[in-house]
Amino acid sequence: MSRSRGAGPGRLPPDRTRAEVGGRIRRPDCDPAAVADAVRLLRAGQPVAFPTETVYGLGAPALDHRAVARIFSLKGRPADNPLIVHLSSAAMLDTLVAGLPEAAEALIKRFWPGPLALVLPRAAGVPDIVTAGLDTVAVRMPDHPVALALLDALGEPLAAPSANRSGRPSPTRAGHVAAEFEPADLPLILDGGPCVHGLESTVLDLSGSSPRLLRPGAVTTEQLEPVVGPLAGKPGEAAARSPGLRHRHYMPDCRVVLAEPSALSVVCARELAAGHRVGLFCVSGGERPSGLALYRRVPDLATFGRAVFATLHEAGQLRLDVLVVERVSPEGLGLAIMDRLRRAAGAEA
Ligand code: TXA
Ligand code: MG
Repeated sequence: MSRSRGAGPGRLPPDRTRAEVGGRIRRPDCDPAAVADAVRLLRAGQPVAFPTETVYGLGAPALDHRAVARIFSLKGRPADNPLIVHLSSAAMLDTLVAGLPEAAEALIKRFWPGPLALVLPRAAGVPDIVTAGLDTVAVRMPDHPVALALLDALGEPLAAPSANRSGRPSPTRAGHVAAEFEPADLPLILDGGPCVHGLESTVLDLSGSSPRLLRPGAVTTEQLEPVVGPLAGKPGEAAARSPGLRHRHYMPDCRVVLAEPSALSVVCARELAAGHRVGLFCVSGGERPSGLALYRRVPDLATFGRAVFATLHEAGQLRLDVLVVERVSPEGLGLAIMDRLRRAAGAEA
């Protein structure tokens, strides 16, 4: 897939966000009617964006195939890429899956609510459009008060991909969502502030003979293996494939160049010398190169992960030509961070 960079249809100026607070961007913590209005819209088949602890989601009632179809068309999402279904209770789980393997019970007990999506055998009532025709369904319980309040008030599960147009970086703030979709297409964005993790959930497939990692996320391999034993699908092993990984992802509006910590200043100097507008996003020490249009240095890996997508969005808003990003070691949270960064930089997973 090729996409033009820079301003295009759907790109709104950043100041649209500020103008919209009090309009379609609503904060349930100081606007108690916001969740009830979201439920009304969802029941009428309209999409609603909501915060989770990972990224913002674009929700539709999972059992309403027309509403789910609308989400696919809004995002421009390929029909062969299934959605994660979000729930807030065990009762909702019963309507979605055809039985729980022992490993699932242990993982649910340990990690839910939280950033872990489990791929399980699906129940008959789940519409084909949600699972892209697969005989499995991905489910998770988000760890965010607004997401849980919305699910409880709706009383049924929500299918929700990340609230970005297909192929774009995921949104970690309400303003990122607003910049992505016109008000006529998305009438309500529940604002829960910046997402705590800022990276999408870990996706773990439990439908086969052994647990398989399909997408690394904030729940790390190191945390999962003590609970379920060795995972298949780790880097360097044969195909860890979530259907979504076949598609181009996280394409920002500028070039992303990954560099080792020791090469950051050389790479910045080279890009600046070429006359480019350059940003640097890093976690290690080192001197700050002069002449940068964006400089973000964070103190640790968790903050790095939280800020990855926000920095990609900001790089676009600042009209950077290139964002230089530090490579981190692909261990622990670093595995998920490098997965997103490699694809933002144009590598195919
Ligand atoms: O953190 C998250 O998971 C966020 C928030 C909103 O919850 N959602 C999210 O959704 O990242 P999305 O649609 O952007 O990514 C869902 C991923 C895709 O890679 C998709 O292929 C995979 O989950 N997936 C969904 N159902 C699956 C299934 N039945 N089998 C294998 N992979 C599946
Ligand atoms: Mg996504």
